Amino acid sequence: MEIIHLSEINSTNDYAKELAKEGKRNFVVLADKQNNGKGRWGRVWYSDEGGLYFSIVLDSKKYNPKVVNLLVPICIIETLKNYVDKELGIKFPNDIMVKVNGSYKKLGGILTELTDDYMIIGIGINVNNQIRNEIREIAISLKEITGKEIDKVEVFNDFLKTFESYLEKLKNKEIDDYEILKKYKKYSITIGKIVKIFLSNNEVITGKVYDIDFDGVILGTEKGIERIPSGICIHVR
Ligand code: BTN
Repeated sequence: MEIIHLSEINSTNDYAKELAKEGKRNFVVLADKQNNGKGRWGRVWYSDEGGLYFSIVLDSKKYNPKVVNLLVPICIIETLKNYVDKELGIKFPNDIMVKVNGSYKKLGGILTELTDDYMIIGIGINVNNQIRNEIREIAISLKEITGKEIDKVEVFNDFLKTFESYLEKLKNKEIDDYEILKKYKKYSITIGKIVKIFLSNNEVITGKVYDIDFDGVILGTEKGIERIPSGICIHVR
């Protein structure tokens, strides 16, 4: 995959989108810092120097976006496993969490933007960046966990290698969609938990997560089984 490396940009997702609109596919935009990093649901993604910020553009007709959405957090976990000696997990739908002193903190996030023609997968990982005070309770960096500076280009290359190798295996049918789902569930820290799901229409649903599939979570609530598509859910607590 072609890599476009920029020293700074507003958002790698936005930059990638401009190129995607012109028909460009199969490339990655990597930036050393973002001045207007975007998180899910219109939130800000602090993107100070030292963190890893990149966006991958794929043809959404060539790859199943629902499978790619599960695959990306798997590849992040499998990459980061080699850098931290702590439990890593995926919080539904795709927050990358690490367990430190008994509680989970966010190490990375994914913002996917999808059209019928292309998908932009934006990934942010806290590698050496200083975590801002306002999010210190909920977020952490690799450097803070390990006490040392990590080569973020190496982390990026490891991730890309893992991701491309899975894509190749999917293409060659050496691995199928259900094996990806199974791996996702293995890394999920949400299955089996009692959660509060905040929906985009301001509704809050409480229940136990029985299962996760390609479309979202299956929740056992007072009213019975409810299916919550990942697209309508703001966050899980
Ligand atoms: C989240 O809210 O958890 C998703 C965060 C995604 C951040 C990444 S950083 C690279 C890419 N460019 C952006 O503006 N956002 C994503």
